[in-house]
Amino acid sequence: MKKNTFLLFTFLLFFPFGLLIAGEGMWIPMLLERLNEKEMREMGMKITAEDIYSINQASIKDAIVMFGGGCTGEIVSNQGLLLTNHHCGYGAIQRHSSLENDYLTNGFWAMSREEELPNENLNATMLMEMKDVTNAVLEGVSDNMTESERSKKITENKKSLIESAKKDTEYHVVIEDFFIGNQYFMIYEQVFKDIRLVGAPPSNIGKFGGDTDNWMWPRHTGDFAVFRIYVGDDNKPKSYSDDNVPYKPAYHLPISLKGAEKDDFTFVFGYPARTNEYLPSFAIDQQVNITNPIRIKIRQIRLDIFTKYTNNDPKVRIQYASKHAGVANGWKKMIGESKGVRRARGVEKKQQFEQQFNIWANSNVQYKNLISKFDEVYERILPYNLAYYYMIEAGYGVELINFARAFTNLSKIDKTTEKEAIEKMLADAQRRSESFFKDYHLPLDKEVAEALLAIYYNEQPIDFRPDFLNLINTKYKNDVKAYVAYLFAESIFTSPEKVAAMLNNFNYKKAQQLQKDPAFVAAKSISYFYTNKVMETINSIDDEINEMRRVYMRAQMEMQPEKRFYPDANSTLRVSYGKVEGFKPADAVTYKHFTTLDGIMEKENPDIYDYVVEERLKELYKAKDYGRYADKDGSVHVAFIASNHTTGGNSGSPLFNAEGHLIGINFDRCWEGTMSDLMYDPSICRNISVDIRYVLFIIDKFAGASHLIDEMTIVQ
Ligand code: ARG
Ligand code: ASP
Repeated sequence: MKKNTFLLFTFLLFFPFGLLIAGEGMWIPMLLERLNEKEMREMGMKITAEDIYSINQASIKDAIVMFGGGCTGEIVSNQGLLLTNHHCGYGAIQRHSSLENDYLTNGFWAMSREEELPNENLNATMLMEMKDVTNAVLEGVSDNMTESERSKKITENKKSLIESAKKDTEYHVVIEDFFIGNQYFMIYEQVFKDIRLVGAPPSNIGKFGGDTDNWMWPRHTGDFAVFRIYVGDDNKPKSYSDDNVPYKPAYHLPISLKGAEKDDFTFVFGYPARTNEYLPSFAIDQQVNITNPIRIKIRQIRLDIFTKYTNNDPKVRIQYASKHAGVANGWKKMIGESKGVRRARGVEKKQQFEQQFNIWANSNVQYKNLISKFDEVYERILPYNLAYYYMIEAGYGVELINFARAFTNLSKIDKTTEKEAIEKMLADAQRRSESFFKDYHLPLDKEVAEALLAIYYNEQPIDFRPDFLNLINTKYKNDVKAYVAYLFAESIFTSPEKVAAMLNNFNYKKAQQLQKDPAFVAAKSISYFYTNKVMETINSIDDEINEMRRVYMRAQMEMQPEKRFYPDANSTLRVSYGKVEGFKPADAVTYKHFTTLDGIMEKENPDIYDYVVEERLKELYKAKDYGRYADKDGSVHVAFIASNHTTGGNSGSPLFNAEGHLIGINFDRCWEGTMSDLMYDPSICRNISVDIRYVLFIIDKFAGASHLIDEMTIVQ
């Protein structure tokens, strides 16, 4: 009785935090039945948790893979055909591209199995089974151990558990931690090693809207690519070999042409990489109000300089396309995240929660001072975090310095270094140099260096500056430009010829010269500074923070026993669910949940690279030649949004309808809701998917690769 009153009291007290709002959460597939199935069915799902994840029968999980290191892919035929995003396959497509065969620009379609292109170092990882091994991992671990004793014990336990598990399985075995070290799962997986490129649309479909539309809604990107998994003739993973055969999966996804109606139930199944939903207010405050703004500012300056040069020179535009995309992607995400947290009054909400937490924790010695300790420790780590970000964003933002860094090994050779080892380093250096100069524009980088090093020099306190910056003071009278002029005039890393000359007949004497190169000096000084002054402190404070976060996580769960918790994303397989719905991004603005081919024609602008529309697509549009891929409203739907909780890594994830049929491929989130990595707000957090009917339309009608459609299982 007493306990019940207490529960009721806590429930009322913590009501705003005690209820999860549908849409929020990245759930562990193995626990769906217990935690989510009921709600999913109430929301409209027609299949069962066992249909999604089962170890006794074929289930949807048998068609999902982690694609490469950071995306998701799904199998859509009994011949191992795989769908993911264009931006996930981008590297592979680019590597097969040349001026003669520019697959990035023109697209690529293998019209037969022989034409499918193998990719070195591209893997697809499939989860076979997971088990809760928390007790075994934490065996012998006690609360009064130090953090390093604890992690030593855990590492030992994990090692022996994995070793003994491996005796009974042919699969790859890993143990991952969940809820910040409060729960552990053993995961059995298969790693496929022969993944071939089958098809990719031209970039002005696969990347339509480019960086301008990135993270934005309304969106019209056909962000998909097609691959195939090959295996040995025993249907097991095998490295590339001519006689490998297409993989026969236990399950492949049926594809629905019904489309997504407003309010339809949907779920996403994939590999979200990293979220931080349980951080204290101080951490969020720092990220949103201090580190993000600095990183945004530095990136903004870089991007402006990129744009200045790329606007006037098509060659530079191609050279900097991928760098621009990378810098811009994070830049835009951080802007959206900071704005979103402020708009949702996220820091204040966390503070309110912490006040309630303190009331609850008051009588508990373990948790009593946790919040104020967080305050202190985040304050302490801030200058080191800043040092880290200035180093990454400003120091290594200078391409010349970053390039010189890659010669560290060579600079260390002496009389005793073996010839073979030197040869290998030289070959590496040669390769690196070629790929660097292929995409390097010196005047651009010099201007970046002037801007970024000035920021680094002026904004970091003296004892948080790597030594080379002090040259600006001692030798160049605070004139950053004069220092940069010297850097670019004296370094050999500015031209392929000079680098080649240096590599020619390389010996320990040349290594000594290399040590004096100003770009190398700068790179070395940054890394020395980082290893000796920053990393150690960050690591030791991180130990404290990790412990506190683990304890805080556990405490939050104890405090809200009625709440269903989901663990932060950690690059393991998860299910998110929600429904197809638009949102209101700003006062007086409402967004609909889908876009159409008409919108592509509206955005068309032959003068703007991001908005060029393929002739063939225009022909199909004019002739209304949509085959069976049009919606019942007569138009071709291109993309749609839904309230599924996703993050980086979910790119390429399948989006399912209530029947468990594939209706879209996830590729992004709406800008206003990118703070979902820190706090999910169901009113504005939306994931963006390309409509599977648009994907099939492009494969079939645009590319004429109908043999791929024939392999798939299409349901009405
Ligand atoms: N914003 C998406 C994600 O974080 C897509 C990035 C690729 N697209 C681009 N235009 N840069 O991965
Ligand atoms: N675009 C992201 C990805 O590549 C997805 C996201 O952050 O929503 O995984």
